[in-house]
Amino acid sequence: MIVLGLESSCDETAAALVEDGRRVLSDVVASQHDVHARYGGVVPELASRAHVQHVVPVVQGALAAANLSLSAIDGIAVTNQPGLVGALLVGLQTAKALAWVTGKPLVGVHHLEGHLSAVFLEPNPPPLPHLALIVSGGHTSIVRVDGHGEVTELGATRDDAAGEAFDKGAKLLGLGYPGGQVIDQLARTGDPRAVVFPKSMTLGEHGADMSFSGLKTALLTHTRAHGVPDGQALADLCASYQAAIVEALVRKTRRVAASEKLRHVQICGGVAANSGLRAAMIAAGAEDGFTVYVPPPGRCTDNAAMIAAAGYHRLRRGEHAGLDLDAKPTAPLPRRAEAS
Ligand code: KG4
Ligand code: ZN
Repeated sequence: MIVLGLESSCDETAAALVEDGRRVLSDVVASQHDVHARYGGVVPELASRAHVQHVVPVVQGALAAANLSLSAIDGIAVTNQPGLVGALLVGLQTAKALAWVTGKPLVGVHHLEGHLSAVFLEPNPPPLPHLALIVSGGHTSIVRVDGHGEVTELGATRDDAAGEAFDKGAKLLGLGYPGGQVIDQLARTGDPRAVVFPKSMTLGEHGADMSFSGLKTALLTHTRAHGVPDGQALADLCASYQAAIVEALVRKTRRVAASEKLRHVQICGGVAANSGLRAAMIAAGAEDGFTVYVPPPGRCTDNAAMIAAAGYHRLRRGEHAGLDLDAKPTAPLPRRAEAS
């Protein structure tokens, strides 16, 4: 079954063709980072307009790269929630038009279900059930994955997402948007112990929840007191800031992995591209006895191959959306009440 995936929930317009939820035939991403960089964050109206410009070329690009025509497609999967509603609508309307002209089934995909599916495009995906840390620009959650599309949230950030912490930190330091990758690069040559950000700031009191807004404020306070450094001191500050985020993510993940007795853990979403997080989680897994699975960096950030992979499982279960399928700006994951 060849599925065309479409993604336009934030600032990437993407189309991909994936066979049987496993084999990527093509994977095209048009990023809008240049459009938003000067504003230090995504401007929703500009995002919608850029999606309109890019959406047909990325679909054509995905078909051309796979050397296929629309008639070869067996189904269409599109991100319809959560995200910027104007941005989502561009992908959604395009998917509906394609479904209508081809007569092929359409299915809506939750963006985070897409992120969770990216690792299944790799040679050795995690078995089910497993634990997943989803870390992106808009979300930070620890979830139990019992099946494709069967997830239960066990912990989450109470305020900013981890990616938001990276982006806001980078903006404060004048490093541009999106900032995660820049901080990651600078942190490689920095000393993570140079600046102390108290652990209590990110860990909250109990349970599997996290908090990142205090950390951002601490960085602001630090730069007000000491100015924005450059050279080695900037690298040290980035390394310390990144280490504080990574420490909270890893600590909470290993705690939940132990309490859920899950020995397989995947990390996904844009922040999963972070080299410090990848290394720290693998080291924690080696100590605690869990295996870590993480997509390559290009499949951690937004792409449509992950949407096609997630959509494949829904289509196989016989799920078909009508042309009245709607976009939803928010769509919380089901949460287990007694999570601790
Ligand atoms: O999943 P994604 O592409 O979009 C959302 O669903 O939000 O994630 C984007 C986020 C941004 O906040 C970006 O700064 C962050 O992922 N990111 C990183 C790295 N690469 C992207 N954060 C830390 N280190 C990276 N290498
Ligand atoms: Zn995403």
